[in-house]
Amino acid sequence: MDGTMESGLPHLDSRCSISEDDDFDLSRLLDKPKLNIERQRSFEERSMSELSISNSRGPDNFDSIYSPGEAVRSGFNTPASSARYSFEPHPMIGDAWEALRRSLVFFRDQPVGTIAAYDHAAEEVLNYDQVFVRDFVPSALAFLMNGEPDIVKNFLMKTLYLQGWEKRVDRFQLGEGAMPASFKVLHDPVRKMDTLIADFGESAIGRVAPVDSGFWWIILLRAYTKSTGDLSLAETPECQKGMRLILTLCLSEGFDTFPTLLCADGCSMIDRRMGIYGYPIEIQALFFMALRSALPLLKHDAEGKEFVERIVKRLHALSFHMRSYFWLDFQQLNDIYRYKTEEYSHTAVNKFNVIPDSIPDWVFDFMPTRGGYFIGNISPARMDFRWFALGNCVAILSSLATPEQSMAIMDLIESRWEELVGEMPLKITYPAIEGHEWRIVTGCDPKNTRWSYHNGGSWPVLLWTLTAACIKTGRPQIARRAIELIENRLQKDGWPEYYDGKLGRYVGKQARKFQTWSIAGYLVAKMLLEDPSHLGMISLEEDKAMKPLIKRSTSWTCSMNRH
Ligand code: GLC
Repeated sequence: MDGTMESGLPHLDSRCSISEDDDFDLSRLLDKPKLNIERQRSFEERSMSELSISNSRGPDNFDSIYSPGEAVRSGFNTPASSARYSFEPHPMIGDAWEALRRSLVFFRDQPVGTIAAYDHAAEEVLNYDQVFVRDFVPSALAFLMNGEPDIVKNFLMKTLYLQGWEKRVDRFQLGEGAMPASFKVLHDPVRKMDTLIADFGESAIGRVAPVDSGFWWIILLRAYTKSTGDLSLAETPECQKGMRLILTLCLSEGFDTFPTLLCADGCSMIDRRMGIYGYPIEIQALFFMALRSALPLLKHDAEGKEFVERIVKRLHALSFHMRSYFWLDFQQLNDIYRYKTEEYSHTAVNKFNVIPDSIPDWVFDFMPTRGGYFIGNISPARMDFRWFALGNCVAILSSLATPEQSMAIMDLIESRWEELVGEMPLKITYPAIEGHEWRIVTGCDPKNTRWSYHNGGSWPVLLWTLTAACIKTGRPQIARRAIELIENRLQKDGWPEYYDGKLGRYVGKQARKFQTWSIAGYLVAKMLLEDPSHLGMISLEEDKAMKPLIKRSTSWTCSMNRH
């Protein structure tokens, strides 16, 4: 532990991350085996050289206008530094760092993660004393941005070690690549021994599978690599194997007709029954981001190369599917409203046979003329029109959303501010389900009553994803408004896990206090705004090789039939 960690204060000169585009052009990857040479260079060097390519793309190119690095250099929308937009440290920041450091978990004197909540007042600890993989992400980003990468490295290695365990639920053995939802360090003061226990879903409430853990792990490995410029961790045989095992799980062939990933309910941040089974947007966006993050990290040896090819193919199919079928805006809603049903064959416009009568009333009022979003889920005859904040923000960060779609999502947030942000950023989903629907969908879950917890509750942790999305789209003023709301209340209320109510005005019924990701999310949002070049570690630029959105009426199957 270094001196600043002991004092509880952040380093003031936060480490400058590599903000440049390290993304690969997919078509180049498929065509040329030149990457072996590129592997010799450091991650940083490669990033720099690819920036010069993106710089030459021309003035009307989205990247050159909105990528944070560019924005800084050209003096566009985003704040460049504390010097230009004077950044007064908010009094909450010191407290937040102290609280974050209090949540540190040590294994043999090394920090390996942060517990979910440090709430001694709560009657039941449940599993909030564990290090959750998804919860650690904002903590990790805060430490990386503050120039403290060691804890992130330790976390990545510890979870990788846990991945190697034999995992069982009753008599069923889980896939080799599964990453834990959470882990705990047991200290034995007598024998002076630390031991680890992990949960892969076998002890979680409802026995839910943490599908998101492996994706967050890969995304974090990229963030670490990008922030430190140190490719050596990702290149270790252990990390390469860990990535391949995760990828084997999600790229395996099955009965699927879609490139999206089929999941059971409760498989991600919403880890209870909430009607997100099927193809939930959060998982699809994280899946996409993890695939793109893995590309530059995988070695192009015999094993790695095969995965790269599979990833490239999947990314093409996945982006097409998501951008075409999950996207909803005014025009699209109007088209669905007028859909014919029972269409057979390749020429079908209503491919999923969605019955227009199943469109809920609220969505007609909610949809602004300008704006749009990725809906929650699509499967045969089922469209879940609910808004999910995390999936949409990750879609922007990973560039699963086209530049136009990213802008439209931000337009929607602006025009539906009261519904989606209200008095406390940010609604996890909108709208809440109630009455009969609540009984059927949640199984009468008393924790997920309307406008509470996962059912339309407001989660401060989502502030960092919103802020990152705002910076990426060149709309930092939206993030500033959201941060102001957080600063009015979060610390006074004891850093709760979530807020309840239509406007998010009430501290959540069963919300933990000193919830670590609420604390870390705030710090990350502040650091991102102060120094937008941090965005590079958690954002991927648009890949020009991926097919642009093709309107449903002119989908390639239709045009092929015509020729
Ligand atoms: C709740 C949340 C989950 C989070 C966990 C620990 O179960 O739904 O997303 O990881 O608490 O904070």
